Amino acid sequence: MPVPQTILTRKTKSAIFLVFTIDDGGEDAVRDALEEIPGLNNAVSSRAPEAALAGIVSIGSAAWDRLFAGPRPRSLRPFVPYEGEVHTAPATPADLLVHIKSDDMGLCYELGAKITEALGDAVTVVDEVHGFRYFDLRDLIGFVDGTENPTGQAAIDAITVGEEDPDFEGGSYVAIQRYVHDLSSWNDLSTEDQEAAIGRTKLDNVEMSDEVKPPNSHIALNVVEDENGEEIDVVRDNMPYGDVSGAGVNGTFYIAYSAAPDVTEEMLRKMFIGDPPGTYDRLLDFTTAVTGSQFFTPTLDFLEDLPP
Ligand code: HEM
Repeated sequence: MPVPQTILTRKTKSAIFLVFTIDDGGEDAVRDALEEIPGLNNAVSSRAPEAALAGIVSIGSAAWDRLFAGPRPRSLRPFVPYEGEVHTAPATPADLLVHIKSDDMGLCYELGAKITEALGDAVTVVDEVHGFRYFDLRDLIGFVDGTENPTGQAAIDAITVGEEDPDFEGGSYVAIQRYVHDLSSWNDLSTEDQEAAIGRTKLDNVEMSDEVKPPNSHIALNVVEDENGEEIDVVRDNMPYGDVSGAGVNGTFYIAYSAAPDVTEEMLRKMFIGDPPGTYDRLLDFTTAVTGSQFFTPTLDFLEDLPP
């Protein structure tokens, strides 16, 4: 099996998310930069190996055919936008995602600067978000985020393309959305109402029983099952970001890796359209998705020896 990029790390304290479009004529320069990324990762990580630095690059659907003449990942397609009765998940332009994480923001910055320099004027930055650890892995809404992520072999299985797509075995799909919170409205809710919106208790982070958990709670809507009733997992690596002053924005950078994009698409359908339709995610009354894009994350072997 080809070696994957380092998606599965322990939870880190910092992250930088860089989203680019590729300018017309920039394809060759981007290919050169993609080949440099594994070496840049090694060079910057070596300066503080304990800080768990990882820089993961992923490629969007339209960009794929501009960069490579050969086969494409079987399920690579653009982000599917959803328009519910009340809330919308927009699809926004993006060709490349660079997801950098480490315990040391200085290292994230260094790797981000080096990758951006390698991409040079072949690309345009469409989003740059610096995420931080907030207490015990809490989102700015005050709830612990990431608890039900799979671990160990289950995490590997959840995000790894297998023999169903032999040319791209070892790769992953990744969906991102940047959310902007309305924290003053959220903070006006009682703790009980906030807990009902999420489906877990706030302080001690315990899941509500099925009898109590509201059907429009975030976690009730985010369970996707296969035809045998088994839950299908994704690996989320969300980070809070934002300005502290009232003049700025703050929210969640949502990022989820999976072995196939239909899982995250189904979660978004349930959140925005509702399950049944109309029973949409209560959390969305307090946060707005302002971006949405989908990519394929190729293996390290792929990056080190790009196909024509
Ligand atoms: C669970 C927050 C967006 C998928 C959770 C939990 C929190 C949370 C606090 C409970 C703890 C946990 O298991 O992680 C947020 C925030 C979001 C956001 C603040 C954006 C503002 C999304 C999106 C998706 C998603 C867009 C998928 C499309 C999930 C899943 C779970 C979860 C799959 C675990 C459900 C379970 O198995 O219990 N989220 N989330 N989240 N979220 Fe989100």
